Amino acid sequence: MSSKEWPNWLPLRQDLRELSPYGAPQVPAAATLNTNENPYAPSAELAKAIADRTYQVALNLNRYPDRDAQTLRKGLANFINGLSNTSFGADQIWAANGSNEIIQSLFMAFGDRPALGFTPSYSMHPLIAKVIGVNWQDGGRRADFSLDLVKALNEIATVKPALTFITTPNNPTGTTVTLDEISLLAQAAAQINGLLIVDEAYAEFSDLPSAVTLINEYPNLVVIRTMSKAFAFAGARLGYLIANQELVSAMFLVRLPYHLSSLTQAAAEVALEFQGELLGNVSTLIDSRKSVISELEKLGIQAVPSQSNFILFTGFSHDPAQLWRQLLDRGVLIRDVGLLGHLRMTIGNEAENQKFIAALQEILNGESQ
Ligand SMILES: Cc1ncc(COP(=O)(O)O)c(C=O)c1O
Repeated sequence: MSSKEWPNWLPLRQDLRELSPYGAPQVPAAATLNTNENPYAPSAELAKAIADRTYQVALNLNRYPDRDAQTLRKGLANFINGLSNTSFGADQIWAANGSNEIIQSLFMAFGDRPALGFTPSYSMHPLIAKVIGVNWQDGGRRADFSLDLVKALNEIATVKPALTFITTPNNPTGTTVTLDEISLLAQAAAQINGLLIVDEAYAEFSDLPSAVTLINEYPNLVVIRTMSKAFAFAGARLGYLIANQELVSAMFLVRLPYHLSSLTQAAAEVALEFQGELLGNVSTLIDSRKSVISELEKLGIQAVPSQSNFILFTGFSHDPAQLWRQLLDRGVLIRDVGLLGHLRMTIGNEAENQKFIAALQEILNGESQ
C-alpha cells in the first residue's frame, strides 16, 4: 500500500504522514504462500481442547486476566528449556500478542538511542521503530544477503544503538547467523551499553542451535520467538521473549494493563500441551523446502539458501511485480518483498507447492515460446 495524502485538519504526527501501513495482501487464493504461515491446521482434537478451555475461561470473563500471565510464562519457559536444554524460569520470559508486540515493547522501553538492523530483513523492525519514534539505522548486508560481520561490528561501535536487531533465519532471505557471530555482536553491543535482539521467529526450521543458550553469558542478549510459524498458531497471536530477568522487569513498565487476554493465555497454554502435534509438521516442511528448491533449479531458477519455511528466489527475466500477478492469476499468492529480481514463496502443503511449481513452469515456458 502506498502512503496516502492526509487531510490538513487531522493532527497526525508529521513523522507518520509518510508511512504506509503493513499490508501483505489478504486475497483469496487456492495456494496462500505469502505470509510464512504453517499450512497445517490444528486437529479437531486440539480445536476441541481449546474450545473446552476457553469455555471455562469465558465463565469468568467479567474479571480481568492474570496481568502477569504466570502460568503461560512458566509453560513457555519449560518449552524452551526442553528444546535447548536450558533452565529459564517464568521471570526470564515475557509474552505478548505476537512477536510484533514484543518488538514494539522493546522499542518503547529502550528506544531513546537509535536502533540498528541489517536489511533486507523483517520489514516491521524499522516500521515499528518509526511508529514509536525511534531513530532506525540500516547497516545493510552483502549482495548475497549474508551478514558482513566486521562491518556490522563497526556499525555497532559507530552508531552506538540501544537495540541491534539480528534475524536468524532471516526474513525474507532465509539465511542464518552463527552462534559465534552472535556472541561477537553481543559483546560489541555490551561495549556501548546496548542490547542485541535476536529475532528467531523461524528458529525451529533451522539446524543451528538457538541463541537462548548464550543468554546466561550475555545479559544484554534478548531472543524473540513466536507461536505463529513452526508452532502453527498464527491466528492466536502469541509471541514471547527470553532474556535476563532485569530486562523482563523493564517490560512491566511499558506493557498495557491486562494486555494479554484470558482467552489468548488459555489457548496458548493448550497449544503448549499439544506441542508434539503442532510442531509435528516441521520436518515435513523442511523436506518440502528441499524438494521445492530442486524443482526450482530444474526450471533454471536460483533459490537463496534457506533454513526457514520460505524461499527467496531469483533468476527469472520478468519484473517481480508482473510475475507475482501472473502467479496470482493462476491461484498462487506469494510475496513481492520489494527486492530487485526476487520473489519469496512460503512452503505450503504438498498440493500448494505443486500448484506453485506448475504455475511458475507454465509462465516461464509461455515466456520462452
Ligand atoms: C522475523 C519475524 N519476526 C516477527 C514476526 C511477527 O510474528 P508474530 O507477530 O506473528 O509473532 C514475523 C512475521 O512474519 C517475522 O518474519
